[in-house]
Amino acid sequence: MTSIELLLQRQSTPLLSSPAPNNDDLEQILAAGMRVPDHACLQPWHFTVVTGNGLQRFSDLLVQSSDTQSANLIKIAKMPFRAPMIIVVSTAFVQHEKVPTQEQLITAGCSAHAMQMAAVALGYGAMWRTGELAYNTKVKQGFSIKDHDEIVGFLYIGTSCKEQVLKASKSFENKVSYWE
Ligand SMILES: Cc1cc2nc3c(=O)[nH]c(=O)nc-3n(C[C@H](O)[C@H](O)[C@H](O)COP(=O)(O)O)c2cc1C
Repeated sequence: MTSIELLLQRQSTPLLSSPAPNNDDLEQILAAGMRVPDHACLQPWHFTVVTGNGLQRFSDLLVQSSDTQSANLIKIAKMPFRAPMIIVVSTAFVQHEKVPTQEQLITAGCSAHAMQMAAVALGYGAMWRTGELAYNTKVKQGFSIKDHDEIVGFLYIGTSCKEQVLKASKSFENKVSYWE
């Protein structure tokens, strides 16, 4: 897959199974997450790699943090097992006179996107998810994320369970204007 094919054909993979990225591949994925546009080089992000027993720990955290009814709790408990690896991308905001937190949030989002693209380039599937528990104070505390920081996403990574049909491209016609 060429770089332009990756950019033009990128899509998410909701159904994931083992294997997860091996250590070498994980290092490349994390390195891609570090190589993002970053005003003033603040590196305003943190990655928590969740695998193995960590998935059960994540599941327990989601259940303990949730206020929902028991039927939903079963669904919530299963969420982390939708992939063999999850990278929790959070912000690590830095006070800076020229770089508002809005820009730093975008940069952390770029990290999530870059890691998804790297995973796809290495032959894995990935899906960026959030949901209301991404904004839950107890979940944030469970990952030692400070109150003023944010979870940008849970990046689920693994191997695609089935051959994926390539989605049609979206037209940019209504999204672009030209000053000439
Ligand atoms: C910040 C963010 C949060 C998202 N959260 C969810 C989510 O919780 N559940 C979900 O099904 N898709 C979520 N998505 C969308 C998927 O990652 C994916 O982009 C979408 O299903 C479209 O599929 P595609 O990436 O193949 O175009 C989220 C995307 C972003 C950027």
